[in-house]
Amino acid sequence: MEFWRGSVFYEIYMKSFQDSNGDGLGDFVGLTSRLDYLADLGVDGIWLTPFYPSPQVDNGYDVSDYCEINPDYGNMTDFREFMKAADERGIKVIIDLVLNHSSTEHVWFKESRKNKTNSKRDYYIWREKPNNWESFFGGSAWELDDLTGEYYYHSFAKEQADLNWSNQAVRAEIEQILAFWLNEGVAGFRLDVINNLTLVLEFPDNPVVDGEMEHVYDRNQQGLEQALEDIASFCRKEREVFLVGEISSDKLPEIAKYSSEKMLDVTFNFNFGSVEQIDAKSVFTSLNEMETALNEGQWPTLFFGSHDMSRFLTRLADGNLSKTKLLAFLMLTAKGVPFIYYGEEVGLPDLPFSSVKEMRDIQGTNAYYQALKTGSNEEDALKIAIGKTRDKARGPMVFPDKRPFTLDEPWIKMASLKEEEALSMWQFYKTLLAFRKAHDFKEKEYAFLRLDGEILSYQRGEFLFLLHFGEDKVLYPLSGQKQLVFGEADMLETGIRLGAYTGIALRVED
Ligand code: GLC
Repeated sequence: MEFWRGSVFYEIYMKSFQDSNGDGLGDFVGLTSRLDYLADLGVDGIWLTPFYPSPQVDNGYDVSDYCEINPDYGNMTDFREFMKAADERGIKVIIDLVLNHSSTEHVWFKESRKNKTNSKRDYYIWREKPNNWESFFGGSAWELDDLTGEYYYHSFAKEQADLNWSNQAVRAEIEQILAFWLNEGVAGFRLDVINNLTLVLEFPDNPVVDGEMEHVYDRNQQGLEQALEDIASFCRKEREVFLVGEISSDKLPEIAKYSSEKMLDVTFNFNFGSVEQIDAKSVFTSLNEMETALNEGQWPTLFFGSHDMSRFLTRLADGNLSKTKLLAFLMLTAKGVPFIYYGEEVGLPDLPFSSVKEMRDIQGTNAYYQALKTGSNEEDALKIAIGKTRDKARGPMVFPDKRPFTLDEPWIKMASLKEEEALSMWQFYKTLLAFRKAHDFKEKEYAFLRLDGEILSYQRGEFLFLLHFGEDKVLYPLSGQKQLVFGEADMLETGIRLGAYTGIALRVED
């Protein structure tokens, strides 16, 4: 059985995790020093956001050298020490590969733009005329390059040029990158925006409906499945390699399509991550949709936060700790592969902003200047930027070993948490992860999935999970032998009484 089934991953945003040399940026030496913390917390794997040399236009998702370490984070020796220390603690490491585009500072692009006959010209996508495709960060996806008078394609920032996947030479370079990191012992890859790959050099305009572009021709292109199968079979030649795909879409069938035995192990489904509201019914619907959409034997991912979205304590629970815990309980007990985003385990809230100067994420700053351009005043533009900036979830990690937390700590004030609450959050995650470890969750499919009012219930193996999304106490009728193995509830003759936002696990006897 694959190692990732039953594993819990922990996403680390490199810059903000642990600094070791006082330059204010996280690094590998710092990260290594925190492996005991992660082992103690009980995670099985780490997903590292890009740590390669990069001009940092999009915080590392603009890679200028795929097989090196950004000097801000250390060097290859530090990386190898980190990998060894992680291995000694039984923690697997998956790394983020940004193969859809490179930085325009990458040597390939520097060569490519020189002249039309350069051997690297066709590593990227050059056209005499742009079409109507839009960049994810706003504006046209085509940039005119004065040197040769042609436009190059960038589905993200203009400093992130899309690679030409129809070029076999590019594919060969990519295989070398995969081989390089596999040789360094990584357990797998998180493949960034992998359904954006340009595999076909045809550029019909995308339809625009009610002012919104529909990504019909620039995503999910013909040949994507084959390209993913090729990557998968290349990676898995010698051993099991975990492949996680980020699919730019919020449509489950589209996302699920690329998760199969021959392609990616799992694909990120954003139906929890990107929602603004959540309740028992919406969760029930989502879980069912995942069951229907996924191919036989494939599992969904489970996450509420990442470096690309607002933290769920703020976004979905409005700072309510019980509700946050309930969502964490769902993430760690439902069927799927959970990805904890660093800091969730201590209740980190979103960072607040009072000026655009405090932001560095291009998604926020671009939105700000775009709004000014289209006539917004500064105040409104700032509001738009605050909505868009992903910096809100990229604040510095706060470790619980600074115990006791003091009320002076800005993040505690921001989240209006009491120090004991932050600590109780961390204990909650730790206990839940220990519970998972004690009972193998690899094989556990749902025996059933039900919704009764505000109570969601599912059974996996010998465990029945009850999740109460309401604020009032409720009685859940249940007969037969049952033993409360996780969480708090009143066990009565007639059933179980659950308090507000409570998740419990029961062992049910046959
Ligand atoms: C992915 C990353 C995001 C980045 C984008 C472009 O969505 O998660 O942070 O901006 O790809 O590489």
